[in-house]
Amino acid sequence: MNEIAAPLLKVEGLGAGYGELPVLHDVSLEVRRAEIVALVGSNGAGKTTLLRALSRVLPSTGSIVMHGRQLSQATPDQAFAAGMVQVPEGRQLFDRMTVQDNLLMGAYRRAAKADVARDLEKVYGFFPRLSERRRQLAGSMSGGEQQMCAMARALMAAPVLMMIDEMSLGLAPVVVEQLMGVLADIRDEGVTVLLVEQDVHLALSGADRGYVMETGRIVHSGPAASLLNDPKVRQAYLGV
Ligand SMILES: Nc1ncnc2c1ncn2[C@@H]1O[C@H](COP(=O)(O)OP(=O)(O)O)[C@@H](O)[C@H]1O
Ligand SMILES: [Mg+2]
Repeated sequence: MNEIAAPLLKVEGLGAGYGELPVLHDVSLEVRRAEIVALVGSNGAGKTTLLRALSRVLPSTGSIVMHGRQLSQATPDQAFAAGMVQVPEGRQLFDRMTVQDNLLMGAYRRAAKADVARDLEKVYGFFPRLSERRRQLAGSMSGGEQQMCAMARALMAAPVLMMIDEMSLGLAPVVVEQLMGVLADIRDEGVTVLLVEQDVHLALSGADRGYVMETGRIVHSGPAASLLNDPKVRQAYLGV
């Protein structure tokens, strides 16, 4: 297959679980360059477990190919080096550090300091609110600002694939709307996004393509607009 046409991430037949408890069953999905892909499903469906397997903090069976490289046996450091960066559920910021120091923590593994300084200004360009608050302690900000800070910190790692776990959880709709707008900007700058959400309508509304997960299996997939119009998806997740 032509390297350009190959997806950025191709997952095939993935299985994972916790001890004796299997959670993921035969999960296959693709993420192409510079698209926003939504992975949606109810609480407990296995979305976070999938992210853990992709970032290699949880062992799994099956195949994970990124940039043509097989990562199924990789370490978390190797997955990170390949460009997979997570924005964890609950943000997990350093509350007692400033916004700017949180962002610099995202870049700590990068050697080229001039690039880091340039990217800092670029990231502040995505999030002007953070620029205004760069000297403020992260823990003193609103939930929406903290989510911005977590996303900005991930961008400072220069990700190829940014994986965001429950971006909208606990945030007001107007804030979520802003964050979705920034995700589109980030995608347009060439960063590929895997958006993991319980809020099915929100995620599919802002994504290019989507996958619906139920009890550890992918049960629907396709262009996000088609999923939003699919009667089965609408009945199960959108209350119509
Ligand atoms: N650390 C863990 N140990 C054991 N079981 C877990 C652990 N984390 C999640 N699970 C179980 O795995 C299943 C999927 O959970 P999770 O991946 O967190 O779903 P989601 O992110 O879609 O809400 C659930 O049944 C959950 O109880
Ligand atoms: Mg989860």
